[in-house]
Amino acid sequence: MDLKKYKAKAKFNQKHCLGLEGYTTDEILQVLALAFELKEKQKKGIPHKLLEGKTLAMIFEKSSTRTRVSFETGIFQLGGQGLFLSSSDLQMGRGEPIKDTSKVISSMCDGIMIRTFAQSIVEELAEYSSVPVINGLTDLLHPCQALADVMTFYEVHGTFEGKLMCYVGDGNNVAHSLMMACAKIGLDLALACPEDHMPDPEMMKKISQEATKNGVAISIYDDPKKAVIGADAIYTDVWTSMGQEADAAKKQAALSAYQVDEALIARANDDCIFLHCLPAHRGEEVTSGVIDGVQSAVYIQAENRMHVQKALMALLMK
Ligand code: CP
Ligand code: NVA
Repeated sequence: MDLKKYKAKAKFNQKHCLGLEGYTTDEILQVLALAFELKEKQKKGIPHKLLEGKTLAMIFEKSSTRTRVSFETGIFQLGGQGLFLSSSDLQMGRGEPIKDTSKVISSMCDGIMIRTFAQSIVEELAEYSSVPVINGLTDLLHPCQALADVMTFYEVHGTFEGKLMCYVGDGNNVAHSLMMACAKIGLDLALACPEDHMPDPEMMKKISQEATKNGVAISIYDDPKKAVIGADAIYTDVWTSMGQEADAAKKQAALSAYQVDEALIARANDDCIFLHCLPAHRGEEVTSGVIDGVQSAVYIQAENRMHVQKALMALLMK
């Protein structure tokens, strides 16, 4: 597969990015192709002001380092500006309806990025918005992360064909979007999660349907040692996601056998990379040896958030 050929494709019919479910394989590959192009331009200092004068409103109901910095810097590099809006400062935080918030913000801005709790909030925001809405993480999904994840995989391995992505740990928002992205682009998947922390069954159904359609194999294990055999990337995420703090002790106990350590990564392919959306908890879901080791691609992955979101904004907000 040569991503370059997707640069020329003019068809991109998405209005929002609430998740990757409604995206076609071609649309995702087009985002990735543009992301690589913009990454190269940014590195070489070639101007690419595709969104000159445009404003992106960025609503945060949860903490963030990468999402905030990557969107704010990304829109600036495209010639526009980002508006950081913390929900604790917005009237939304005092009960102003999503509908009114959406209608008002979209009357003044050219795009809205939101990080929040329920997926339904992002969907309601999009329903009333006259401009593109981008999901910057919900309890259910993290689509921008997944785009950066598969971009990083491609950057390192040069293809998705015949390769295997292995996700180990909590079947959470990051896992849902990662699996959907893999199912769409043709990257086989192995999943190792404890029985009580499997991905959401509804999501799993949609991902499996997509995988079947695209000839993608999904193998499910409860033993991570079996799941990582033949893996080209091992991915994990925190055991306690934002908003789940009350369950932290329970989750630690359930997931302790799912730590990605040196012995686990040694069972995968020699050129297997380690991926993590960050922030990481060294000593919990991953050892310092792995995340700081030579196979770790986590900082390229974090940087790719910016490049892939620039591509996404350019395609949605053009
Ligand atoms: N991976 C990610 O979304 O990081 P932040 O929470 O720092 O935005
Ligand atoms: N699963 C994590 C991802 C953080 C980027 C969370 O939701 O907190």
